Amino acid sequence: MGPLEVLKEADDQGPGEMPAALSELYGGRLALRPPVVFANFVSSLDGVVRIPGTGKVGRVLSDDSQGDRFVMGLLRACADAVLIGAGTLRASPSSTWTPEQAFPEQAAAFQELRLRRGLSPSPRVVVASARGELNPDHPGLRGALIVTGDSGADRLPEKLDAEVLIVPEGPSGLDLRAMLGQLVRRGFPAILSEAGPSLTEGLVAQGLLSELFLTLSPLLAGWPAGGGRSGLVGQTELLPHRRVGGELVSARRQGSHLFLRYRLPGAGLGLAGGLSGEQSSA
Ligand SMILES: NC(=O)c1ccc[n+]([C@@H]2O[C@H](COP(=O)([O-])OP(=O)(O)OC[C@H]3O[C@@H](n4cnc5c(N)ncnc54)[C@H](OP(=O)(O)O)[C@@H]3O)[C@@H](O)[C@H]2O)c1
Repeated sequence: MGPLEVLKEADDQGPGEMPAALSELYGGRLALRPPVVFANFVSSLDGVVRIPGTGKVGRVLSDDSQGDRFVMGLLRACADAVLIGAGTLRASPSSTWTPEQAFPEQAAAFQELRLRRGLSPSPRVVVASARGELNPDHPGLRGALIVTGDSGADRLPEKLDAEVLIVPEGPSGLDLRAMLGQLVRRGFPAILSEAGPSLTEGLVAQGLLSELFLTLSPLLAGWPAGGGRSGLVGQTELLPHRRVGGELVSARRQGSHLFLRYRLPGAGLGLAGGLSGEQSSA
């Protein structure tokens, strides 16, 4: 893969070392300012991120873009934890959410980046499930942290090679603010969300998402009626009554694909408020 072409890069980068092989491909450093929750999505040109019943949706939507797989690997490599919802787990039966699974060509450089930044060898996979009905044989659950509520914990399969964290439940699933607060306190200050629209809509609605890394694919997907397709905030109604606008931090290009990074308003404060405003039960 050739380097991504940098179209825009904000000056106020945070700290973070990066091996030369990665900064060459990315066209500079990728830095974060923890505590931070940052999401990664690939979207069709017409805004579709979820196509039910289709395997490897990311690859289909991105037209198997190498650049998309590289950015996904790099973001995972920079994270303490990769958060997914059970919907994404169920839809991706062979995924392990590691940097090297996304982009094996740079596996060694991803390891080097983690070493230099003092991160654990692999980001911890965190699976959020309110119902607790998970397939214990899913490879992504090996060594994962399952976050659930009291009722979900009762329904978890017996044989699980994973740790369980109980968090309070909210009106539509887990209490996401409490969940993120507990994760940060447990040593995961940089949380990459690779969750689907259901969990992401809660993160956005509650102002908990700090940044969005969006790959804009040149492909059109279409929106067939009743097909269950979705944009990245699912069913949430924002406009015209609620304005949530991102600030463009960086833009990169590879062919006709765009790799966009947006800072979302007030989000860091949302997380900080959650952290200061609740007691630890971890
Ligand atoms: N294009 C992309 O970049 C991209 C990125 C990610 C995912 N996807 C696609 O999106 C699809 C999955 O979408 P999804 O929306 O079902 O996935 P999701 O958001 O990852 O998972 C939803 C599940 O998370 C659990 N959950 C726990 N607390 C929740 C809360 N407060 N709010 C919402 N959910 C909560 C629930 O699990 P329980 O049912 O166990 O209670 C819920 O069913 C897959 O096809 C995947 O490939 C695409």
